[in-house]
Amino acid sequence: MKSLVIYYSFKGHTKTEAEKIALGINSEIIEIKEVKKRGMFSAFLSGCPAALKQKGSPIVAPEADLTAYERFIICAPIWAGYAAPAFNSILEILPKGSEVEIVLCSGGGESRKGLAGATKKAEDLGLKVVSSKEIKTAV
Ligand SMILES: Cc1cc2nc3c(=O)[nH]c(=O)nc-3n(C[C@H](O)[C@H](O)[C@H](O)COP(=O)(O)O)c2cc1C
Repeated sequence: MKSLVIYYSFKGHTKTEAEKIALGINSEIIEIKEVKKRGMFSAFLSGCPAALKQKGSPIVAPEADLTAYERFIICAPIWAGYAAPAFNSILEILPKGSEVEIVLCSGGGESRKGLAGATKKAEDLGLKVVSSKEIKTAV
């Protein structure tokens, strides 16, 4: 089964974790960026409310052909207890029916609601969630 690690990272912690995962399973990895470069002010002022509502944000479409993969390991930071908006946009571009593993990175390590919300959102979009976990990073 061909897997792809696909991640969004604001400050670099998620990037580090995503790279470790990709190395561990010998998979390809791509970074997803938001169209508009975000600063800390915008992360808190508009990013957190969007994360809470599980809304997406405009992302740059990846060049990779996502139909070439059967399983995606999606990594993203937790904002306000939920996955950062770019996570929701990543879900929307994955081929329906794909298997997904959800990895959310947080500073506090208490993201049960966020993991449950991310799982439901993925399932509502026609993805098969095979696992979900949180990694505690530095804040
Ligand atoms: C805007 C913002 C909101 C955050 N909200 C939370 C939170 O609600 N709970 C938590 O445990 N960590 C929170 N964090 C910490 C990040 O989830 C954590 O540091 C994560 O590893 C950051 O990943 P990154 O470096 O890839 O952006 C927040 C960080 C930012 C920038």
